[in-house]
Amino acid sequence: LLRSVVVGCGAYLPGNVVTNAALAERGIETSDEWIVQRTGIRQRHIAGPDETTSVLGTRAAQAALDEAGLSPADIDLVLCATSTPDYTFPSTATQIQAALGIEGGFAFDLQAVCAGFVYAVATADRFLSTGGAKRALVIGAETFSRLLDWEDRTTCVLFGDGAGAIVLEARENDASNRGVLTSCLRSDGRHRAKLYVDGGPGSTGTTGKLRMEGREVFRFAVGSVTDVIEEVFRASGTTADDLTWFVPHQANRRIIEASADKLGIAREKVVLTVDQHGNTSAASIPLALAAARRDGRIKPGDLVMIEAIGGGFTWGAALIRW
Ligand code: ACO
Repeated sequence: LLRSVVVGCGAYLPGNVVTNAALAERGIETSDEWIVQRTGIRQRHIAGPDETTSVLGTRAAQAALDEAGLSPADIDLVLCATSTPDYTFPSTATQIQAALGIEGGFAFDLQAVCAGFVYAVATADRFLSTGGAKRALVIGAETFSRLLDWEDRTTCVLFGDGAGAIVLEARENDASNRGVLTSCLRSDGRHRAKLYVDGGPGSTGTTGKLRMEGREVFRFAVGSVTDVIEEVFRASGTTADDLTWFVPHQANRRIIEASADKLGIAREKVVLTVDQHGNTSAASIPLALAAARRDGRIKPGDLVMIEAIGGGFTWGAALIRW
């Protein structure tokens, strides 16, 4: 039995940090108090003009390779979860592949908005566990600042830019039982209008801006996404008590805490980075994983649940023995 084992993890954040107070100073009618109380967000990183999604993704991927002690030539699958590609095509993943100097294997993007990284882990796991690839770079990279309507205070304060990545390696399962243990994905396309970008080649022909009915998203996120986590618990024969860490998509502190409480996951097991990064969509989970690796929280052998919901709606969860 082949397992997809995490052998490296890394992240990259643009240097430009924008606090809530700085947004208010720029003329957005908001306050640090409102944003912190409703969302838990204190600051976000915003990409500069040269920091495209593939640039952020390449730096995160390199950091993950460094932690793994691998070189780009060891990788035969590059999978990038993003909704903010550099170009409509070719994929951001192929740009990252080229920037890293990888000439073999295959690379593609996966678009499931904020659930993109969970979808990408589940997808890479299918390739690795069936012998379709040996080592995968699984990247979440986004520049949502380029999709924001900076005149709309109900959305522009919520998002940030960044990238994170893990390296998954196909290994024979052994007594350590490490690897991606199980995953569960769902989507329901009837919810498009609650969270979408009002542009694209098939509509306006422009890139468009992000539009969101915040209350509806909030209600769905807390009410419905626990189904995939419960399915993962069932399929793996584990419970909330078995988890070492819960690393959810970082959209909003209130959504995260309400979900953890509903599932009976102790608050001290929750990795929270939304205060530092804002909502970085598909990048938020690998950014949080990298932060918890760097400060020594996540260690080999730990049982880690990742979970996300995004536009569509799309949602999913995966359980990883680190
Ligand atoms: N600063 C100050 N006031 C604001 C701001 C702001 N940035 N934005 C809205 N307000 C005002 C509103 O205009 C409204 O004023 P009014 O009562 O005079 O009309 C008031 O604050 C309350 O607005 P609501 O929209 O009702 O605020 P709510 O409590 O619902 O919080 C929020 C809004 C934070 C967006 C919440 O609905 C939420 O967290 N939703 C989930 C959004 C989310 O996380 N989406 C992403 C998940 S999926 C993904 O990542 C793609």
